[in-house]
Amino acid sequence: MPSEDDILNALKAVKYPGYSRDIVSFGIVKDVAVANGAVSVDIHLTSANAEAAQQIKSGCEAALKAIDGVRVAHVQVHQPQGGQAQPGTPTPGQGPQKVPGIARVVAVASGKGGVGKSTVSANLACALAKRGEKVGLLDCDIYGPSIPLMMGVNERPSVTESDDKLVPLQSHGVKLMSMGFLLQDDQPVIWRGPMIMKTIQQFVMQVDWGELDYLLVDLPPGTGDAQLSLCQTVPLDGGVIVTTPQEASLGVVRKGIEMFRKVNVPILGIVENMSYFTSPGGERVEIFGHAGGQDEAARQGIPFLGEMPLFTEIRKGGDDGVPVVVSQPDSLPAEVFGQIAQQLQEQLTGAAR
Ligand SMILES: Nc1ncnc2c1ncn2[C@@H]1O[C@H](COP(=O)(O)OP(=O)(O)OP(=O)(O)O)[C@@H](O)[C@H]1O
Ligand SMILES: [Mg+2]
Repeated sequence: MPSEDDILNALKAVKYPGYSRDIVSFGIVKDVAVANGAVSVDIHLTSANAEAAQQIKSGCEAALKAIDGVRVAHVQVHQPQGGQAQPGTPTPGQGPQKVPGIARVVAVASGKGGVGKSTVSANLACALAKRGEKVGLLDCDIYGPSIPLMMGVNERPSVTESDDKLVPLQSHGVKLMSMGFLLQDDQPVIWRGPMIMKTIQQFVMQVDWGELDYLLVDLPPGTGDAQLSLCQTVPLDGGVIVTTPQEASLGVVRKGIEMFRKVNVPILGIVENMSYFTSPGGERVEIFGHAGGQDEAARQGIPFLGEMPLFTEIRKGGDDGVPVVVSQPDSLPAEVFGQIAQQLQEQLTGAAR
């Protein structure tokens, strides 16, 4: 019995007509379901080109039927009427389309868990808001959402009457959406991949974000297929990679770089977190090694955005729901987060459009 991954792998052999890229990497393969030798696949095109649709459909059917254990292949190709592209669905060559009202979307990723992705996302969001930007923060960590705790808010969002959109919560001047707001009592989420993609897409499209200068996206840990598909679901303008010095030296950062490159998302740079701590005697102690993030950034020719030391205040800010940028605006970590936010602004306002 083939798995969903087997199906996706087989579909990678189908090229988008007229392009060298395959339909999976374009992000147009939406739902995949397998049961008793029957496979059903949903493809969403943004063009109304009937010939392309037919070619993709027959290409998919041939690829699916060639898989061991597949008896029936049902391929449904969805297309807009009259050539109108739908916002939020991908167009070949440029990934998912921009969401109206959201100027820039930036993802924060890392190869491993627990390196401080959510901490960096929350603090950068607050730092950008303090710099006068309209900011949203989207927690894409469906299985382990930590933004509600870190931003100190956990309520059920209301729904707009006019168009049934979720109203984001607000904290420290940042609009927020997280699976944590929609779950009851920390119940675990057990969902299949396509469900998660759909939820994330709704978190971008069906949330009443209003006008935003920046939407930061806190990705789940890892740089595997799931994260890759998320990057294709959300229209990203740039990616930030968070690492510890040790993780960088293990080559995990390179996987993050690879992931963003695969989906043509510009890498805005590396943040090295937990770089060192200062002992009570004032000595700099490099627990996780020295300058791994900086060295890797130089090797890969991508910007190094800054190093963040280990600080009790950062951990405490996360646990208390008031990021250090807000609770201790004059501290060294607040200053470093401010500098990173400034670099993102400089890169994106020059490069975004
Ligand atoms: N520079 C730092 N100094 C002190 N504590 C930190 C620092 N960075 C992160 N932490 C703490 O480390 C823990 C893990 O951080 P965080 O949750 O941000 O990591 P993550 O990469 O998002 O994890 P996950 O992979 O689970 O999503 C948190 O308790 C956070 O407060
Ligand atoms: Mg996290």
